[in-house]
Amino acid sequence: MNIITKKSQNKDLRHISVIMDGNGRWALKNDLPRFEGHKKGAKTAKCVIKYCLKQKIQYLSLFAFSKENWLRPKKEVDYIMKLLSRSLINEKKFLIENDIKLKVIGDLSNISPSITKLLDQAINDTQNNKGLTLLIALDYTGRWEILEAVKKLSSDISKNNVDINNIDEPQFKNYLQTSDIPDPDLLIRTSGEKRLSNFLLWQLSYTEIFFINELWPDFNETIFNNIILEFKNRERRFGKISEQLNNSSMNT
Ligand code: FPP
Repeated sequence: MNIITKKSQNKDLRHISVIMDGNGRWALKNDLPRFEGHKKGAKTAKCVIKYCLKQKIQYLSLFAFSKENWLRPKKEVDYIMKLLSRSLINEKKFLIENDIKLKVIGDLSNISPSITKLLDQAINDTQNNKGLTLLIALDYTGRWEILEAVKKLSSDISKNNVDINNIDEPQFKNYLQTSDIPDPDLLIRTSGEKRLSNFLLWQLSYTEIFFINELWPDFNETIFNNIILEFKNRERRFGKISEQLNNSSMNT
């Protein structure tokens, strides 16, 4: 079957998630200190937000900082945090002007109060925006999020607020930080690494994954548009068979 001309089903693209990898290697390749890679990486993140606006994507989630990233040299962690606070200050106007709603997922208990204050302000100032929802994962891992959900659910069970026999996947999703966000349709990871690295472990169950070789700071609109084109030609069967997707009478 011709993959380019085949009429695909379920090709709706609401939510794109990205593991922005390769900043350090980009810096090394260009004979620059690592922080220059992160600086260029932050600029690339803004470009990707603009590509999503152009393509009318509803949700973009970016893995900005994992719990494991605290283990990096303090100087690098400090720089990433500085970049984040600078972005929050400089880009709030951009978020507002472009109808972007900011959300954050993650622990945040280790993030400095000056940054959480900036985050709270930006989240508050963009809460009524209706265009793109930008989800930043900060001090986040998927396992941490699932454990937190299990703790809250267990507490509700022990208080008899929830009947253990009635727990299903939609109800469990309500306990996740992404309870009000549809699962990603597409995940992009740059830099040639082929792993999920603890990102959105529950939510990525049926996501189409694109592992690409380009380093994050080199990511551009052509690559983005080509991925979307290939995504639209993938058949998302969600466990069913092709014939069921093409014949609505078999769709049960
Ligand atoms: C991965 O590259 C990148 C990070 C761990 C940090 C991501 C941060 C940014 C892109 C900038 C800040 C983002 C926002 C939204 C303000 P790496 O350092 O792991 O690269 P390497 O694997 O080549 O060393």
